[in-house]
Amino acid sequence: MADSLLRVLACGSVDDGKSTLIGRLLFECGSIPDDVMLGLERDSRRFGTVEGGIDYALLVDGLAAEREQGVTIDVAYRFFETDRRRFILADSPGHQQYTRNMATGASNCDVAILLVDARKGLLAQTRRHAAIVSLLGIRDVILAVNKMDLVGFDQAVFNDIVNEFDALRDRLGGIAVTAIPVCARDGDNVTRASAKMPWYQGMSLLLALETMRPTPRRVDVPFRMPVQYVNRPDHEFRGYAGTIEAGVLRPGDTVINATSGVEAKVARIVTMDGDLAEAGHDLPVTLVLDREIDASRGDVFAAAPLPALADQIGAWVVWMDETPLFRGRAYQLMLGTKVVSATITDISTRLDIDSLTEIPVRELHLNEIGRVTLSLSHPVACEPYTESRGLGGFILIDRLTRNTVGAGMVTATRASRADIHWHKLDVDKHARALLNGQKPAVLWFTGLSGAGKSTIANLVEKQLLAMGRHTMTLDGDNVRHGLNRDLGFSEADRVENIRRIAEVSKLFVEAGLIVLVSFISPYRNERMLARDRVEQDEFLEIFVDTPVDECRRRDPKGLYQKVDAGQIRNFTGVDAPYEAPESPEIHLPTLEGTPEALAARVIDELRERGIIA
Ligand code: ADX
Repeated sequence: MADSLLRVLACGSVDDGKSTLIGRLLFECGSIPDDVMLGLERDSRRFGTVEGGIDYALLVDGLAAEREQGVTIDVAYRFFETDRRRFILADSPGHQQYTRNMATGASNCDVAILLVDARKGLLAQTRRHAAIVSLLGIRDVILAVNKMDLVGFDQAVFNDIVNEFDALRDRLGGIAVTAIPVCARDGDNVTRASAKMPWYQGMSLLLALETMRPTPRRVDVPFRMPVQYVNRPDHEFRGYAGTIEAGVLRPGDTVINATSGVEAKVARIVTMDGDLAEAGHDLPVTLVLDREIDASRGDVFAAAPLPALADQIGAWVVWMDETPLFRGRAYQLMLGTKVVSATITDISTRLDIDSLTEIPVRELHLNEIGRVTLSLSHPVACEPYTESRGLGGFILIDRLTRNTVGAGMVTATRASRADIHWHKLDVDKHARALLNGQKPAVLWFTGLSGAGKSTIANLVEKQLLAMGRHTMTLDGDNVRHGLNRDLGFSEADRVENIRRIAEVSKLFVEAGLIVLVSFISPYRNERMLARDRVEQDEFLEIFVDTPVDECRRRDPKGLYQKVDAGQIRNFTGVDAPYEAPESPEIHLPTLEGTPEALAARVIDELRERGIIA
């Protein structure tokens, strides 16, 4: 028993007293060195909130910045042990916007402590944490009802909270709940029974943790290891390094590269401590195979039955960004060690935190949890999260800011391209372009309404035509009468508007044409998507740069007047954002030249880039 390890996730809202509880646990388990204790006594006098006593929260909220703000910022891992067991405690912050850390900190935990302030009862945040904990596959929860001293150690208050939580339990997939009334500040029911709550006969928090039997990890699961890197220090040695996600491996076993289907036998399992005769879950290893096979970072070594190789996945996503999640938007998805581009093809429901039921939605906002479908640029070896945390959990990364904006759990996998083959055509883009005697390209004009995009694009097209070039124009105002007539000007609709136009431009490039696109296209993300649809040298972003005051002065369609009269809302540059290009291929400040001169600059640039002769 002494050797068994329990991974614990602590979650609670600001002010629930979580840091105090954890500090108290660490202190009473003797895992605080003397010098730290001395520092704590000193700090308690200076910053402490416990009159004349030791403020255990200071032990946990180690950073000065945190002390000042009074919130805990990052996930911290704390280690402590008792005679009975070792513990790793992931301390995730309670503040709403820090749900992100909670989703990433939780994925390995056996049990979660949900902290509740007895005076406040279950908050939305508690329910959200409970929902995430359940989605993450944690089956055991300790409901620690803290600050019992502030409600006079009243049993009725405790019972009410427990009953309320019990009502949620079934909707949380039937997690097991142990409820404990505590006073973290004084240590009641933390490591020893409380004299002040004789009505409570149950275990102290520490005893509950010590005796908890977490659902054992299944050992009969097939072997899985995402390849982290290929280790090739010299010509002699070639090893594949990674951490074993599931299953057990011995020399002589067959492993298959799930991405390519190629198999080999394990010759050696190399670790820092020498070669192993057997390796299992969580162990970082380097595999030497009996023959050279093609494998690189992102591939998964597996034993049969193999994980799905999917390019369509259904998933629960916890959204963690201020900017909502929209259908049609593309992100980078990292699953195991693989990074691919992922487009949101559908958002169906979100989990309502009060009722824990699903309601239909089209967007996901900060901290919301919803069901989405993603389409991946390349097939990824993955499995439902319930079968494999390592190959079923992923994060979504914003391609521009590089921030982690979502955490997901795979629920379903599909390989669409296995059914819909890409038809290899004999007549391709190059053949068509050759017949047209030109290089196809996308000239993507972006800028505010009234900036002059269509005017300049029109002049450019006329010149191209005069030179005998084959062109096509896509214009926001016109396309919105046909293909995109179902779309308005909400953020989600604009994302979809541009996604469709990006696809249509690609088709016209395939047709060998020079495509002139003039859409406001206010978001960098979708312009990047459009760029990614064609070859690198085929895309020219042209920023028609006109200050909003000048657009308003020109007001060619009388729209700014309507905006000012309150008849149009969500107008780009006024009450809807425009993200100016950071490094467009062509920058046209319209205050500095006539439309004709600016069009001539575009033509010059096309010549310089070899798009026209
Ligand atoms: S985009 O933002 O989705 O790229 P798009 O270029 O298709 O916009 O359409 C912009 C045109 O729609 C504008 O030039 C203007 O004529 C018209 N329009 C009507 N309402 C709005 C609005 N709220 N914001 C911007 N343009 C609008």
